[in-house]
Amino acid sequence: MASLLPSLLLMALGFLPAVTLSAGSGKCVARSFGHDSVVCKCNSTYCDSVGSVTLPPLGQYSSYLSNMAGSRLEPGQGQIQVNSTGQGLRLTITSYQKYQRIKGFGGAMTDAAAINIMSLSSGAQEQLLRQYFSSEGIGYSVVRVPMASCDFSTHLYTYADTPEDYNLDNFTLLPEDINMKIPLLQHAQALSPHPLSLLASAWSAPAWMKTNGALTGKGSLKGKPGGKVHKSWAQYYIRFLEEYAKYNLTFWALTTGNEPSAGEMTNYSFQALGFTPEEQRDWVALDLGPALHASSYPHTHVLILDDNRLLLPHWAKVVLSDVHAGRYIHGVAVHWYFDSLVPAEISLGTTHHLYPDYYLFGTEACVGWNALDRGVKLGSWNRAEQYAHDIIEDLNHYVVGWTDWNLALDQTGGPNWVKNFVDSPIIVDAKHDIFYKQPTFYSMAHFSKFLWEGSQRVGVSACGETHLEYSAFIRPDSSVVLIILNRY
Ligand SMILES: *[C@@H]1O[C@H](CO)[C@@H](O)[C@H](O)[C@H]1NC(C)=O
Ligand SMILES: *[C@@H]1O[C@H](CO)[C@@H](O)[C@H](O)[C@H]1NC(C)=O
Ligand SMILES: *[C@@H]1O[C@H](CO)[C@@H](O)[C@H](O)[C@H]1NC(C)=O
Ligand SMILES: *[C@@H]1O[C@H](CO)[C@@H](O)[C@H](O)[C@H]1NC(C)=O
Ligand SMILES: *[C@@H]1O[C@H](CO)[C@@H](O)[C@H](O)[C@H]1NC(C)=O
Repeated sequence: MASLLPSLLLMALGFLPAVTLSAGSGKCVARSFGHDSVVCKCNSTYCDSVGSVTLPPLGQYSSYLSNMAGSRLEPGQGQIQVNSTGQGLRLTITSYQKYQRIKGFGGAMTDAAAINIMSLSSGAQEQLLRQYFSSEGIGYSVVRVPMASCDFSTHLYTYADTPEDYNLDNFTLLPEDINMKIPLLQHAQALSPHPLSLLASAWSAPAWMKTNGALTGKGSLKGKPGGKVHKSWAQYYIRFLEEYAKYNLTFWALTTGNEPSAGEMTNYSFQALGFTPEEQRDWVALDLGPALHASSYPHTHVLILDDNRLLLPHWAKVVLSDVHAGRYIHGVAVHWYFDSLVPAEISLGTTHHLYPDYYLFGTEACVGWNALDRGVKLGSWNRAEQYAHDIIEDLNHYVVGWTDWNLALDQTGGPNWVKNFVDSPIIVDAKHDIFYKQPTFYSMAHFSKFLWEGSQRVGVSACGETHLEYSAFIRPDSSVVLIILNRY
């Protein structure tokens, strides 16, 4: 293979007799906001798309290139070189070295995402959802759904705010669910060629269940695992699954709660529920696991942690070493914040090698969260590289999927009731009925569009020194996908 100048390159090497390469249905309408690259502008009648991707003829490859200069999934084609002796870098795929299988990629339908999508005309909403979920779009298959409010809500609420309602008789979904998130999830499902894998995470239990009597700040469930409150909190998850099922929305998985370490911090500014790994272990073993097993949804996957990977492998050791908890658990969910502080090999690699029967799954990531680089930055290529770097590193350390945070935000990076504004791959300008696809949208696309569920990571190595980052896969249709990032 010749030297690879492009910044972000995907090579789909077809090994099947195949059809023509789809030309795609339109180019990026580029707009610059003075950062290092551009956004692609979309409206109710136009949005760029690479279209449905078909395999190249046998012996050839298709490539898709995005770069700082403004290419966005630009298609190319060439001859596969077997046993090439030419000059330049050579990447060798060793398909007999097999690793994890991919589950999927996606984003979160927060209240803020739903508010922004619904602020557009129906035509623009359709365009936006097609971009993520349709086969002409980037093939998202995972959607994380917050259970009740989080910081990306306009007010504080849970589904059971009536004090002492241990039986959850007053459990109720809110207008945010019924009028916004649910219709949008149904619409996304209707556009998707496959059933979506929905993932539920709760931020806080109702205030009356908690030691601090509030949704925010430092606080955990009252009493002990196996007790009355812990049982009610497990039942709250079942009631959520039941209510969403009434709208034909069934969940692939739930997490044991968003960022349990946040609820251990004094004056934490938004919704949180503290768990130590020991408390989480016992709650799963005594309450959540048995409740789910006895419910109408016993096959729902349970993912522990749902917090930064620097808590691994310790958290996994405490929870998964316990057979009573472990038998109800399927995976370990990680967030990307502070990833640079801990090598992936120590956090993810060690966890995988200790507990190979449990998969690792990325449940949250965003850019613009750091005080030094806060909020929306329209057209930032640097941020696109941050995404691609982290995804490749995760995939090369046994992670089976990667979920972005808000599917869409406004130009300030909200709404967010504590002003914890961040960036999103889609930024909505409701006043002009348009939305911008950020460079991060295309970072996600280089993975989500090509790595179908069931794709298996295989070995790949470079001959000689290289600063390229890469990962290789064999898909269920036997084609090979090689994803390469050049950050230099
Ligand atoms: C949408 O964008 C396209 C391409 O820039 C443009 O031709 C079209 O007029 C726009 N439509 C509306 C409704 O603004
Ligand atoms: C490539 O090289 C390998 C190992 O030397 C050999 O087994 C294989 O037949 C070669 N393939 C082709 C197409 O020449
Ligand atoms: C809780 O539900 C019961 C029965 O549906 C109802 O009578 C009661 O008013 C509700 N309480 C609150 C505070 O909503
Ligand atoms: C429910 O959703 C599934 C896909 O998840 C779909 O096949 C089915 O037709 C839907 N049923 C109704 C009643 O909408
Ligand atoms: C937490 O908040 C309270 C009330 O605002 C304040 O008095 C206290 O100093 C804060 N504690 C810390 C550790 O910031």
